[in-house]
Formats: sequence, structure tokens, C-alpha cells
Amino acid sequence: MEPFALPETFLLGTATASLQIEGGDRNNSWYRWAEQGHITDGTHCIVANDHWNRAKEDTALMKKLNHHTYRMGLEWARIEPIKGKFDAEAMAHYRAEIELLLENNIKPLITLHHFSNPLWLEDQGAWMNPEVIDLFEAYTAHVVENLGDLASDWCTINEPNVYLYEGYVEGIWPPGEKNILKYFKGARNMIQAHIMAYRKIHEIRKRMEQTDTMVGFAHHERVFDPKTGSRLEMLLCRFYERLFHEIFVKGMAEGELLLPVGSGHPRGFGLYMDYFGLNYYTRDLISLSLNPAALFAKMEVRQGAEVNDLGWELYPEGLYRLCKKYYQLYSVPIFITENGTCDARDAFRTRYIYDHLFQISRLIDEGVDVRRFYHWTLMDNFEWVEGLSARFGLVEVDFESQKRAIRPSGKFYAEICENRSVTQKMIEKYLG
Ligand code: BGC
Repeated sequence: MEPFALPETFLLGTATASLQIEGGDRNNSWYRWAEQGHITDGTHCIVANDHWNRAKEDTALMKKLNHHTYRMGLEWARIEPIKGKFDAEAMAHYRAEIELLLENNIKPLITLHHFSNPLWLEDQGAWMNPEVIDLFEAYTAHVVENLGDLASDWCTINEPNVYLYEGYVEGIWPPGEKNILKYFKGARNMIQAHIMAYRKIHEIRKRMEQTDTMVGFAHHERVFDPKTGSRLEMLLCRFYERLFHEIFVKGMAEGELLLPVGSGHPRGFGLYMDYFGLNYYTRDLISLSLNPAALFAKMEVRQGAEVNDLGWELYPEGLYRLCKKYYQLYSVPIFITENGTCDARDAFRTRYIYDHLFQISRLIDEGVDVRRFYHWTLMDNFEWVEGLSARFGLVEVDFESQKRAIRPSGKFYAEICENRSVTQKMIEKYLG
């Protein structure tokens, strides 16, 4: 292990999503899913971190952790509780939350959609109904008209591939369907919704005479490697690459619909991202399966690999590989919009952070323009279908008392943020 330093202009912080921390909203698809008993550990999102009432305390935590930036989500169901009717109180609440960040010198990056839908949208077919493109644009316009003077940086949609895969292929997230055709249909709508929102955010902020707008999306990418290296496995990897990554990146970044999502550029040619947002966690080894429902591929974790509490391989080089790949393709700044691990005992999170940031320093040394890093996540929260027991936080949360306690890995991260470096002393103190 060696010391390293990040550039003076590099921004570090954490990312969260509204549904996973806020609590208190009954008007969204995840509330209903939890009510129906789908959360595997039997917990619920209705309280989560009670962040809606504790934003002040949580901002103070971020300050204590020396954040330069914070990626936060907005809950569409709160802002537009009834189709076409916007709630002024919810907007005022988010405004106050963002103002608090700014007072603390923490730069916000705002996510407009992170897995949860208002119930009215869910009940009209959610992202399967093409009307969602206009609806998302109207919601985006309303938000940016109201918050665009405070925030320059926007993330339209978080991980459309994961949202569609879990909800429409695996069927373990709302609405719990197993229909691959819907995966492609949803992709078509999410891609176009992103493009329209991208344009809208720029249009509104330009009118506001703001010149520093940065808009992108958060793309979840896994490394797919062939298990034994056979040609067939390589072909399967290529196939999965296309289905899981390429159709989304090509569509959202360039406006091109690839088969089987569609064809051509229905919303015009362009580059619809000012930064490339990468959410990276792990890799899968791929081999042949005879199961058509699994699209003939079996995904496994490398034998003997170190894994996290959810069984995901810890593979920091993957972050390096993916940043290289996308920088070569697009040459736009890269924001690591999410990276972190599930580690209830905080046994390997410190090392995980070191290893992944070390890859970032390598990339920067080699001329790759990585500008930001958002650790997933600030504090333990509601981890979707796994519930409250999967622990990704720099801060440990006792959900009974809502007490927050910074973990040793959080202290390590705070020191990295403070100095934008890992020194020999820090290695001895935290990783010795
Ligand atoms: C999602 C987060 C989630 C994290 C860990 C990402 O795919 O954007 O909402 O909590 O992974 O599973």
C-alpha cells in the first residue's frame, strides 16, 4: 500500500437517494411494495433514516466528514403527489435542504429519478407508458424552475438498467414482472426521457443566465469477464454488455437507439451528457447456461474472491477498466456517482475505499479526467429489497433510536476529503 494524492480541484462526498433515507411518504411505488411484504428482512421504507426531519443533523454529519459535494435525490411523489399538481411545501423543503448544503460549502448534485415512482405514475404503467417522457419533462421543468438558481449539477435518471432489470426481468422490485420485452420498452422511454430532461435543464438554466450547468445520468456498470476465457463465453459477455450497458449508454449519451430497443436517433443527434456518471460496485464471471430465462448465461463470483456482505466480489481494478473505456469513448469528465460496499462490521470498507480511490489516482496520473467521487453511501439506509439490514454507510445507524455514529472507515474517508490524499501516516493509522 502506498500513499497517493488527488488534485486540488477533485471533489469528494457521498451519494444518497430520497426513498432510501427520507421516510414519511406513502405515495410512492416502494411504499406499496414494502406494504405488500416484499422486503426480504421484513423491514420497511416508511421511516428509513427519517432524513426528511433530520436533514440538519445529516448535513452536519457531512460537514464533519469534510464533504465537498453531496449527491442527493428528489422524491417525484412528494413534488408531484397528484398528476399535474405540484406541492409547494415539498419544494420549499428541498430548497431549504439545498440552501443548508450551500451554507456549509457542500456542492449539490441532484438526482431527479432514483428507482421510485409516484403511485399515480406506477398505476398508469410507469416507464412502460410512453406518456412518461412528457411527464418526466414537466416534472423536471418544474424542479429546475424552482431550484435551478441553487444547483448547477443534475443527474436525470439513476441506473435505468438496474431499475428495469430488477422490476421487469428478475421481478423482485416493483412492479414485480418477468417480461424481457418490457425491459426494452422501458429502456426506449427512459432514454428519451433523459434526452428531453437534459435539454430542458439546459434551456431553463440558460434563461436564468446560469453558465455552469452540468447534466448527466448515473450509469450502473458491472465488469463482465468470461469465466474460463472460452470464445463462447466471450460472445456471451459481448451479448450481456450490449443488453445491460451499451443500449443505455448509446441511447442516453448519443441519442441512438440500438436493437432491440429501437433504431436511429428519434430525438436527434447530439451528446446528451456533460459528464459521464459511473456507478461501480463489482464484476461477474460469465459462462454458458442452458436456461433461456437467464438468456443462456450464468453469472458467478470468481472462486476464492473476497466478497462483501451481499456476496459481491471486491474488484477495484474494474473501476480503472471502466473509466478508461468510457474516457476513450467520450472524453467527457467522469464523476464516480456511486461506489461503496456492504459491510456491517466495517471490516473491509476502509480498505475498499483506499483501493478504489487508488485506482482513481492512477487514472488521473494517466490523463483520465475523473473529477468527482461519491461514496455510496453516507449512512446505513433502506437498501431496496434487502431492507434496512444491508449496511453501506460511512455512518452506522441504529434505526430504533435514529442514532448515527461515524464508523472508522468514515473517519478515514473524512481525512481523505480533508487532505485530498492518503498519507503514509493514514495508512499506518487506518490500514496498518
Ligand atoms: C443504487 C443504490 C443502491 C446501491 C447498493 C446502486 O445500484 O443506485 O440505490 O443502494 O446500488 O446496492
